[in-house]
Amino acid sequence: MIPRSTIEEIKSRTDLAELIESYGIALRSAGSDDLKACCPFHQEKTPSFHVHPGKGYYHCFGCGESGNVFSFVMKQQGLGFMESLKLLAERCGVTLEEREDPEARMRSRLYDLHAQLAAFFRRCLLQTREGTAARQYLESRDLDNAICERFIVGYVPASAEALLTWAKKYSFTQDDLIAAGILLPPKYPNGRWYNRFGGRVIFSICDKSGKVVAFSARTLSADKSIAKYINSPETAIFKKSKILFALDKASSHIVKAPRREAIVCEGQIDVIRCHQHGFATAVASQGTSFTPEHADLLLRSADSAVLVFDGDAAGRKAAIRTAGIFISKAVPVRIATLPAGDDPDSLLRTKGDDAFRNALDSAESAIAFHIRVLRDQEPQPDSAAATTRISQAILETITTCPSAVMKSALVSEAAKILAVPASALAEDLRHIASHRQRATPPPPQDAPPAMIDEEEARYLALEQEQKKLSRELGIAADAPHLATPSQRDIGFCNFLYAHEGDSSLASDATFAPDEIFPDDFTRKFVSAWKSTLSNAAADPFSTLAATLSPAERKWLHGIIDSPDKTAVSEIPPSEIFRSYLRQYWTAALDNRRLRLSAKSESDMFLGLEIAQTIKQLQRVAWSKFSALVPRCLEILSSSGE
Ligand code: CTP
Ligand code: MN
Repeated sequence: MIPRSTIEEIKSRTDLAELIESYGIALRSAGSDDLKACCPFHQEKTPSFHVHPGKGYYHCFGCGESGNVFSFVMKQQGLGFMESLKLLAERCGVTLEEREDPEARMRSRLYDLHAQLAAFFRRCLLQTREGTAARQYLESRDLDNAICERFIVGYVPASAEALLTWAKKYSFTQDDLIAAGILLPPKYPNGRWYNRFGGRVIFSICDKSGKVVAFSARTLSADKSIAKYINSPETAIFKKSKILFALDKASSHIVKAPRREAIVCEGQIDVIRCHQHGFATAVASQGTSFTPEHADLLLRSADSAVLVFDGDAAGRKAAIRTAGIFISKAVPVRIATLPAGDDPDSLLRTKGDDAFRNALDSAESAIAFHIRVLRDQEPQPDSAAATTRISQAILETITTCPSAVMKSALVSEAAKILAVPASALAEDLRHIASHRQRATPPPPQDAPPAMIDEEEARYLALEQEQKKLSRELGIAADAPHLATPSQRDIGFCNFLYAHEGDSSLASDATFAPDEIFPDDFTRKFVSAWKSTLSNAAADPFSTLAATLSPAERKWLHGIIDSPDKTAVSEIPPSEIFRSYLRQYWTAALDNRRLRLSAKSESDMFLGLEIAQTIKQLQRVAWSKFSALVPRCLEILSSSGE
């Protein structure tokens, strides 16, 4: 753990205004010692982003973002707290005393090696005779020096000896180069060293904080029998599933893009070209296909994605597969269609910005795209057989979506395109879901232990600190505790009233304990509704009415008199019920988290566990959800003060 005093030191040594300006955000005076700018976290024309360098604190009156130097870097670059700490420590010259950890030392040596190698490869490109062909190649691809500088594009000399000589001069060893996967040792005594990237153009691969962690090397040759790209193997600082190409450059643009939408491409040249043409929200999973881990990484900055893959059959297939990953995380995703034979690189280069922007603007929803592709493959796309096949394929994707609302929106969209009733699709969806449920093994009885990591604990502590500070400054106060039912409560009660005595909800009703409802009225209403499940004879709602205050009675009548809005949807009631329960549990836990103390260590760990649990509550399959409930109840009933 990092001592608090070190954190304080970094904070006091970092000038918030200067830090913010280093991200290209121009601050101007807004009275005494206040500064302001257009907010980097949302789109606006008049500045409502206020900075108090003296207090080390910023706040946007437009979108409510607020925090200190650490949270600014975290938000801008999608970093965790520890990562932002390290970055700022380096920036202001504070050394973090890390435990004498040989692995940490190894990693820092690898970072150093990669940084210096990247600079060396740049020099080889620009200053050596051997680099001429590479320079010509890059020129032939319209990659000018400015963009090559930004993406640290270089050239690797062909011989292994050149690397060994370089290493000696810069006090690196053969073993360092081997550990980085750059050099491979001879296979037999007196054999030859092998230079993995020799004679190729290299693209530097950076982590989220912009450090070079690996290389991707392209051949200059058009010979199809030679591997086009060769990538660094995984090392102590490079895990393919944890790196998105150009995320370090894109994240500050993604957080303020409309819908916080990221552009996802297939190839790194595509991404470089996008950035060159000002489409700065572009990223790619280079060297491997896009995985759920990549999506999680991206979703720290993005709320939605538009996929721009190659305009060929393989590209379409990859786009559909990747879109499925986003849908399974309830993230809106669109797919752009490029002219056959084009990729973002060639389109931008030959047809220009407008053609690319058009492709982005006219990107279809992933479902519409998928259906269109499937219909194109059918000789008789309007036949019953084709419609059956297509709807099955689409529903397989939709069923993975954890949000009831998004699921229902996707079903109606698919129904419209396929010209079948949404109710029919919804019914099939139910069948698929119930088959799935039967096929999945029962969940383990013990709730999985929440992962605890230092970074998140610190982050939570920081969040507490910020909340406290914002209270002191009288801004961005926490949402007041509501004694009256909210919109959601009313909607939920409304739904319950329409499903009086509905036995399909009975088993899940055990997951709706009093503890998760924030106000008295909803609690009483839910409890009355629960009794409709067991004794149908009495009328629990009239019994309830008798115990209510006049204000509460008004709410009750409002509920009874208005129709259930969810009735028109095709989603099964149990799904809607579960979706509400997920929301209530999440909100209740989050509320509990807000009452934690920043001072107490046990509270800090509880905070961390809660954050982790909330993530699980939002995402896990329902069968696993119930396993989390006992622990959640314990947390909620643990003392708050
Ligand atoms: N790729 C790889 N190894 C290969 C081929 C491709 O790792 N042998 C990865 C690279 O990250 C590449 C991406 O897959 O960027 C997409 O491949 P492709 O479309 O073939 O390459 P382009 O990006 O179009 O590259 P170029 O324009 O240089 O041909
Ligand atoms: Mn290409």
